[in-house]
Amino acid sequence: MEIVIASTPEDAARIVADRFEQAIAAAGEKGITLGLATGSSPVATYQELIRRHQAGGLSFAHARAFLLDEYVGLPRAHEQSYYRFIRDQFTAHVDIDDAGVLSPNGEAADPVAAAAAYDAAIGEAGGVDLQILGIGSNGHIGFNEPTSSLSSRTRVKTLTRRTVEDNARFFDTVDQVPVHVITQGLGTIGEARRIVLIATGEGKADAVAAMVEGALSAFCPASSLQLHPAVTVVLDEAAASKLENADYYRFIQEERPRLTR
Ligand code: GLP
Repeated sequence: MEIVIASTPEDAARIVADRFEQAIAAAGEKGITLGLATGSSPVATYQELIRRHQAGGLSFAHARAFLLDEYVGLPRAHEQSYYRFIRDQFTAHVDIDDAGVLSPNGEAADPVAAAAAYDAAIGEAGGVDLQILGIGSNGHIGFNEPTSSLSSRTRVKTLTRRTVEDNARFFDTVDQVPVHVITQGLGTIGEARRIVLIATGEGKADAVAAMVEGALSAFCPASSLQLHPAVTVVLDEAAASKLENADYYRFIQEERPRLTR
């Protein structure tokens, strides 16, 4: 894993936006498939990407996107559906073709079949080139809660009480948070060619330490990223505060320009 410790959440967002911009430029007209995450963690990155688009330097015209997850039973038009969230927070403000922004169908009569169909659609599209991730306070990625199989595919999951309570801030009451979701599996996410995870704030420090320096374990689903050859974890100081080897990661970052000179 590449660990980048930024001074502030704003710097962290700019670093992640840089990675997006570089990947989009490298893909050129052949296009890129982005993996998009919801939650509050990537919002500042999306704002930075929108700013760069509006400034004229960054186009998503050759991009398509797959979302990580969706609540089961929430209408698409609901402002907390992830279908709506990603449009409101990001894709409606850039030049990506809306028809190419796909998400699991949480309104399907058969969510189990909808999950399998979504997994297949990602494969048929050639997979995800660049996936952005956040991390839950319990170490989940997407909605892969602790004890998710490390090789899981897109499927229906039941949220933990902790995740329901974490996400209640987006709803009027905790009872309105759906408890069932469709999420890309850890195996599905792990097939993305590059992954950038962003985490900011002290509330993520324990989960980040478990992901980066803890054992590979289904109990910390994000630790599955240890198996991936191209993961960058971008943190602010607070989210990095429980890393034992933080000085080593800073040293690597300082020395990196010498390797590429
Ligand atoms: C949510 C999402 C995840 C997200 C995580 C953290 O429930 N399913 O994709 O990374 O939990 O959320 P936040 O960034 O709001 O802390």
